[in-house]
Amino acid sequence: MTAVGIDAMEIWTGKLKLDLAETFAPAQGDDPGKYTKGLGLRASSFPDVYEDIVTMGANAAHRLMERKGLTPEDIGRIDVATESAFDNSKPVSTYIAGCLEQVYDENFHHANKGERKFACISGTQSLDDAYNWIRAGRNRGRAALVIATDTALYARDDPGEATQGAGAVAMLVDEDPNLVELSTEQGYGSADETDFLKPNQQFPSVDGKRSVNVYLARMREALEDFAEVAGDIHPGDYEMIPFHTPFPGMVRKAAALGYRHIVRGTDVGELLAEEIGHQPMRSDFETDDEFHAAIKEYTDALTETERYQDWYANTIEPTLEISREVGNWYTGSVHIARASGLKHARENGLDLDEARLLVASYGSGAQAEVHAETVVPGWEEEIGALDIDEQIRNRYDLSFAEYEQVHDVHNHDTEADVEEFTAPEKEFAFDGWGRMGERK
Ligand code: CAA
Repeated sequence: MTAVGIDAMEIWTGKLKLDLAETFAPAQGDDPGKYTKGLGLRASSFPDVYEDIVTMGANAAHRLMERKGLTPEDIGRIDVATESAFDNSKPVSTYIAGCLEQVYDENFHHANKGERKFACISGTQSLDDAYNWIRAGRNRGRAALVIATDTALYARDDPGEATQGAGAVAMLVDEDPNLVELSTEQGYGSADETDFLKPNQQFPSVDGKRSVNVYLARMREALEDFAEVAGDIHPGDYEMIPFHTPFPGMVRKAAALGYRHIVRGTDVGELLAEEIGHQPMRSDFETDDEFHAAIKEYTDALTETERYQDWYANTIEPTLEISREVGNWYTGSVHIARASGLKHARENGLDLDEARLLVASYGSGAQAEVHAETVVPGWEEEIGALDIDEQIRNRYDLSFAEYEQVHDVHNHDTEADVEEFTAPEKEFAFDGWGRMGERK
């Protein structure tokens, strides 16, 4: 069977930076530790007034096509995943294709275009769609362009405000990929939940604390479902586990839960039992509350063990490095986590050829998906081509007053005087009147 997977990717961050410790925390009257240690974030990327999901997605896709020497004829499908769409009928992929057609002689009239929605998990669902399309033999030799693009903004003073972010990830899905091969091993956990909603409104209504518990519950189900397909998982099976990362503190909780789950019945589980006792079982407790308190006690002890900390430092920590600087990108977040882990491996000379990844995606509303991937030779060159460090460094560092102003503009509370702002040359930019174009 020919390998199908992600051949190449590009990351495009929003051009502004909100520093959480230096700028946001003092304005909120909070201890910076809440953000840097508790949530695990240093800063978030924020969209400038001339940026939105279309410009960021088009810029990421354009850079990817240029680097890979592609023209529209090479692409048979454009799938956009977003939870920041502004049009209930016309998919964002048509707007992005329109931008790209301004800079190529060919058009995308032959390409199937769509938009996927299931909160943050839809980026992974779009990858799955592209994989299935190629596997089904319907691609006529063409590749799929999958773009995950979001402006993850919250209402002012919402607890989620510290976890904002903005950016796009463009991925080329093709046969004989150069980055990762996707596998057929997948597991799901899905339920109708109302912890995070955007019913025809710009900013989400979020029950933040509950959303954390829903994430953990669906992720546990997805791991159980995954084991039905892939068999029992051993902690050493996967070199890295990129999770959906709304903020690194969320992954800290999810990783402990995942580890507790996967060590059951393994030699590692036995060794841990000698060290910190056996895992609590529901049948040993009268109430759910007692059971949950025992799990918390067990998990706290688990995360203090050297065995767990070594595993976390190698398997999880590298996947959080980019997220700490850019915040939540919703649909792009898990794909940034994968890129972050691979980038760390390249910079530290780790050999990941044929290494296995367990990719743990999540979307509110709610669904988790766990799937396996194999890193393929060629990954180092592909990851080495990313300039995300430079993009992060080049962001404009907002003062709090500027942040308030730009937030208002994105909330349509004030008109942006776009003449005051200069969009960079040779990039797609939003000119404030609904037209997209390349600024010359
Ligand atoms: N030093 C160190 N740590 C500190 C601290 C300090 N000075 N002050 C607080 N902390 C810790 C807290 O103990 C807490 O850690 P634990 O969770 O490990 O106990 C952490 O910092 C956060 O503090 P709070 O819980 O008090 O923060 P909060 O209630 O103001 O906000 C939140 C937390 C509810 C998750 C909020 O960020 C939120 O609503 N976020 C948006 C929703 C979200 O991202 N949910 C995640 C799951 S849903 C999902 O993943 C989909 C998606 O992308 C949105």
